[in-house]
Amino acid sequence: MPDPINLDHPERYAVMGHPVAHSKSPEIHKYFAHQFKHNIEYTAIEVEPGDFPQAVEQFRASGGKGLNVTIPFKFDAFKLADRLSDRAELAGAVNTLKFEADGRIFGDNTDGAGLVHDLTLNLGVTLKDKPILVLGAGGAVRGVLGPLLRQHPAVLVIANRTIAKAKELAKVFAHYGKIEVCGFDDLKGRRFDVVINGTAASLKGEVPPLPASLFTHGALAYDMMYGDRPTPFMLWAERYGVHKISDGLGMLVEQAAESYFIWHGVRPETRPVIQVLRKGV
Ligand code: ATR
Repeated sequence: MPDPINLDHPERYAVMGHPVAHSKSPEIHKYFAHQFKHNIEYTAIEVEPGDFPQAVEQFRASGGKGLNVTIPFKFDAFKLADRLSDRAELAGAVNTLKFEADGRIFGDNTDGAGLVHDLTLNLGVTLKDKPILVLGAGGAVRGVLGPLLRQHPAVLVIANRTIAKAKELAKVFAHYGKIEVCGFDDLKGRRFDVVINGTAASLKGEVPPLPASLFTHGALAYDMMYGDRPTPFMLWAERYGVHKISDGLGMLVEQAAESYFIWHGVRPETRPVIQVLRKGV
């Protein structure tokens, strides 16, 4: 059962990252809290690299109940947690911390669930028995592979610039479904129903060198990143005739909803929040 809400003093939550000033999480959690009339304060806390454990302790000592953790602290949060969910263990990263009544810190990772909810519930895509391509093999991709594989795709191909990194991931996740790894060149002649860009290429205004014939008819091109404009990957997909294209804003809201559930035991409605944020961007 969630703790009863104290109406006089808001329960304190925050997101920690570097940089974190432009995080949409405070706004998202404000909308969620409004749905339940919860009295919550959710702030963004900028933390210098190296200072994460002290910052967490300070926040907890000042009455904080839980934290979201973003780049570059997801592995620090993983190490700091006393108890981990199975999905956080598998992801090797934590984006949600909960300070438990017994003094222990529970660590979870809601990124993969957020992606899968956005794909299946918001975008109406079936992953079961479908060929799926994931681009990239860094921390962001590792965080979502478990939940993606739990949807039982026909095959999940991980393509990365550095193939060795994709191979490492395939080893970790081999028991969870059919995985193949390759470089971008090896994708020629292959077609996928869902292509998820989990590389950091968009950050540099780049698109991985992909063959244009990658998509089946009706395929979805999904970028885990989001911004005020379509990412280079989304523009590339549009140029090659893909109709279903999405950024990762829905994933962001869905992972936040999953964190909200961990802290408060209730699931917020995500669609109205995604709509409001879309209008704002
Ligand atoms: P994150 O936590 O965002 O996943 P990361 O662990 O540094 O960050 O991983 C970045 C991913 O983006 C990697 O898969 C990286 O490819 P390499 O493993 O070959 O480095 C990929 N990446 C970054 N810039 C890229 C680019 N311009 N084109 C293609 N892939 C890129």
